Amino acid sequence: MAHAHQQHQHPLPHTHTHEGSAHTHDSGATPDGLPEILDLDAALFAPHLTALTGRIACLAGDDVRHVVDLGAGTGTGAFALLEQFPTARVTAVDNSPAMLERIVATARERGLGDRVRTLEADAGAGLPGIADADLVWASASLHHLDDPATALAGIRSALRPGGLLAVAEVDGMPTFLPEDGEAGALEARCRAALAGLHAERLPHRGADWGALLTAAGFSVEQERAERWELRAPLPEGAGRYAFLVFERVRGSLGGRVGAEDLAALDRLVGGGPEDVRHRDDLVVRSTRETWTARRPA
Ligand SMILES: C[S@@+](CC[C@H](N)C(=O)[O-])C[C@H]1O[C@@H](n2cnc3c(N)ncnc32)[C@H](O)[C@@H]1O
Repeated sequence: MAHAHQQHQHPLPHTHTHEGSAHTHDSGATPDGLPEILDLDAALFAPHLTALTGRIACLAGDDVRHVVDLGAGTGTGAFALLEQFPTARVTAVDNSPAMLERIVATARERGLGDRVRTLEADAGAGLPGIADADLVWASASLHHLDDPATALAGIRSALRPGGLLAVAEVDGMPTFLPEDGEAGALEARCRAALAGLHAERLPHRGADWGALLTAAGFSVEQERAERWELRAPLPEGAGRYAFLVFERVRGSLGGRVGAEDLAALDRLVGGGPEDVRHRDDLVVRSTRETWTARRPA
């Protein structure tokens, strides 16, 4: 399956990439489907995660002993980074005990229990007891925190001088349906309605993290945005991933899109001929942004 990923996942060559300074998820509603979405997302976009953590390893150098995964979720970033830094240990930070329990279970299953510890904390209010991190990884998590400036000051204090912070965000809900025609228009309306929801509930989503990092005293070394398109034959799990995303979107958008759109969303997850799990015309599109910044030595 890994081979199939490499053949069919293409970062498009355009979008902005600022050399000298480089650049991932969520959709809103019930927490229940989130762990599976996070794991499927990491599996589908594995080439992106591998390339990104590889670039971070180049910047971080050999001497990385302590990695912090901030807002770790199911730990996809933590486990990818443990591969990149074979002698490092990871502290996975999350305010969800359920997520942290999953990470502990996965670490045990993979024989990595001695290299992973967990910290249940509000990552926006500092990282208690951590002052020696060589690398902090924050994927799709910073926008959840109440105050970016306070959160970044806490991260800065957790890093050793010269340590790295890698921030990854996605630009919104991935899309799956043919862009031309009604399906594409439906997805565009859903993305717009989700943007409205996030503006109310997650105001820092889509923030200018480069500027915020600089203001917090970091030196931004790379900033990068990549638009990914995964085309048929899609990796295993793509239909399930689309189903879970649409299910969450459907759960979030009651009252925010029209009744016809809600009915169309119901058909996409309803088990019938339009269900995304049975279609052969899906294209998974997602723009992933990353910033890598250093605490000055
Ligand atoms: C969208 S998930 C991303 C998970 C993971 N980093 C990934 O990229 O797959 C966001 C994670 O941040 C966690 N989170 C949200 N607010 C938080 C806070 N204030 N402190 C710590 N973790 C938080 C959530 O519990 C969730 O696990």
